[in-house]
Amino acid sequence: MKQSTSLFFLAAVILANSAFAQQKKAASATDPKMDSFISNLMSKMTLDEKIGQLNLPAVGFDVTGPILSQGVDEKIEKGLAGGVFNTFTPQAVRKLQELAVTKSRLKIPLLFGYDVVHGHKTIFPIPLGLSTSWDMELIEKSARIAGREASADGLNWTFSPMVDISRDPRWGRISEGSGEDPYLGSLIGAAMVRGYQTNSLSNKDAILACVKHFALYGAAEGGRDYNTTDMSLIRMYNEYLPPYKAAIDAGAETVMVSFNDINGTPATANKWLLTDLLRNQWGFKGFVVSDYTGVSELVPHGLGDLQTVSAKALDAGTDMDMVAEGFLTTLKQSLKEKKITQQVIDQACRRILESKYKLGLFADPYKYVDEERAKTEILSPQNRLDARNIAAASMVLLKNNNQLLPLKKNAKIALIGPLANNKRDVIGNWSAAGDWKKAISVIEGLKNVAPDMDITYAKGANLVDNPAILKQINANGADIVADAKSPQQLIDEAVATAKKADIAVVVLGESALMGGEATSRTNLDLLPNQKDLLKALKLTGKPIVLVLMNSRPLTLDWEDANVPAILETWFSGTEAGNAIADVLVGNYNPAGKLTATFPRSVGQIPLYYNHKSTGRPYDGVSNEKFKSRYIDSSNEPLYPFGFGLSYTTFSFSPVKINKNTIKSGQTLEATIEVKNTGNFDGQEVVQLYLQDIYGSVTHPVKELKGFQKIFLKKGESKQVKFTIDTEMLKFYNTDLKFAAETGDFNVFIGPNSRDLSTAQFSFTL
Ligand code: NOJ
Repeated sequence: MKQSTSLFFLAAVILANSAFAQQKKAASATDPKMDSFISNLMSKMTLDEKIGQLNLPAVGFDVTGPILSQGVDEKIEKGLAGGVFNTFTPQAVRKLQELAVTKSRLKIPLLFGYDVVHGHKTIFPIPLGLSTSWDMELIEKSARIAGREASADGLNWTFSPMVDISRDPRWGRISEGSGEDPYLGSLIGAAMVRGYQTNSLSNKDAILACVKHFALYGAAEGGRDYNTTDMSLIRMYNEYLPPYKAAIDAGAETVMVSFNDINGTPATANKWLLTDLLRNQWGFKGFVVSDYTGVSELVPHGLGDLQTVSAKALDAGTDMDMVAEGFLTTLKQSLKEKKITQQVIDQACRRILESKYKLGLFADPYKYVDEERAKTEILSPQNRLDARNIAAASMVLLKNNNQLLPLKKNAKIALIGPLANNKRDVIGNWSAAGDWKKAISVIEGLKNVAPDMDITYAKGANLVDNPAILKQINANGADIVADAKSPQQLIDEAVATAKKADIAVVVLGESALMGGEATSRTNLDLLPNQKDLLKALKLTGKPIVLVLMNSRPLTLDWEDANVPAILETWFSGTEAGNAIADVLVGNYNPAGKLTATFPRSVGQIPLYYNHKSTGRPYDGVSNEKFKSRYIDSSNEPLYPFGFGLSYTTFSFSPVKINKNTIKSGQTLEATIEVKNTGNFDGQEVVQLYLQDIYGSVTHPVKELKGFQKIFLKKGESKQVKFTIDTEMLKFYNTDLKFAAETGDFNVFIGPNSRDLSTAQFSFTL
């Protein structure tokens, strides 16, 4: 422990001059008016009231744990809560805010937090799906709409964006983030913060963003949720930390700490993480909240009893305690025993009061209580239309042999599968305030979009048959009841339906609650009963379009080998059915690209495109024994990062570069010509990767450094130009300095991380 702490400390000192430290500071410079307002207020606060501000109880509905907080009304009246979470609607918020500003001694307004993760009432695709749009404008728009709806519904704080990099689809929460790439994840994190917070927190529809889960939560060992992370600093800095930093640089006002242990100290009590790095180097000025009972969980982590761990968490830099009430019940005693100082309590209290001030809550505690706005803004037709477009943009066409898709609008189809006539699941996990009854199923969408289509529906399989999974998800509200028909009857009915149709459109995947928190899996195949259905349908000889709904990359080797067309739709939100239908009939030409690698088997995990080379790299074809390879599987993924097809085809010319050498501060242009060679207008995400070929440390075989989403009419060509500057060549070296090194670089451009055209240039300092 001691050794790792001092290593962290060394890293902190070294990094003080790094690029992280030099980038734009997170929150606004101090405001003298705010400072004196808060100093004045704090001069009147008792110790209990100050500690009260650090307390965040939950009231109402929660999906991740029992509501542990008791007697919340009374606590609010006594000034013993800084905010509440899980309460919304103007009426409910007014009631609690009234208690705070009329009954409590100092009338300090409350924060109202909630998990507005991919939409509030109008639900957008799960975040992994949003990321596969590679469209920053649309992603920002989704967060803006979520922010408008949430703020109209009484909320002033969302626990989003989640920016944890993950290379492990066993981890159910890979669905809540933007996949495996730090560059793309950084752009998305920043876009979401802008969408929630707008250009000023004083705007009536701005809400506080909360970057989570700080840090490295997506690297849990074995893909098991909440599990330990042990990672070198060089990997952390280059591969995992950038998205948190980017979201903070975009002005995120709050940060949520992760549950996991990081190199021996759980994040909630990790002073290096929360103070040296976050505040001293990155310049974060907002406040830090623990995750749900994160403070009391330090006890089973093994750091001490509740009083000890509460003091450690506060001292490390956790300002607010979500639900555990360790701060509320023990900090006073710790102060008395001199285990903490008055200064750390004051500092945390001040940070929380500052956020309230920036939102304008002292000027108007009812700023977010506006029944009229709630009526007009929530689930408005325009919001639903935007959700439909964003959902369509998130879909990834994984396979389309013989141009089976798009479907003819008057086709005779057998629509099969437990997710084809389903509203409950399409909104996905963490659609906390979303109402699944307002969602559009695939069958409804197809009827809306193609009224002349001849559709016969058969369920074909239960969504989940596996007793262990059923037990787990039904306990959390999945409400899955086995069909009265036997599995074989369901299959027979589906086969008979398929035989009468021209094409079978089969909608399969996970239940929404098989993704998200505490849903780690060790097997990522389609559930056996669903696969049996697919196998039976294949025997009919009818062409099959497999429409997938799932929260994570699945292992689809069999499906890829046996099914001619596969469309990945994630869980795409309130408008899922309409958007899926738009894509299936070609009203929208899919252009989504994967942001997390699809492995062939669980045994390959972790599998990610920006891996290092070994000393014995395998070329994929030779039969040499002593190479870095599996004897029972290819090393290659089934579908690589950045992959996704279109109904049209694109050709890419070889890459051209305008110089062979650049020096520090200079730029180089890499150009490629992209031509739409197919029969549809379409969009393509043109991707730029770089590789530092030799260096003082080893480098990934390629790293995404830029992309452009372009639109080309059929037959049209476009020159796509990327400017490569020397910032793009920098990395954190063994001294944790962010610097580029003299040497040769590969530049790769193409439609995904595998099919790339290459050129080479040299860089000299
Ligand atoms: C636990 C989750 O880890 C976190 O993401 C969420 O924001 C909180 N619960 C609050 O619901």
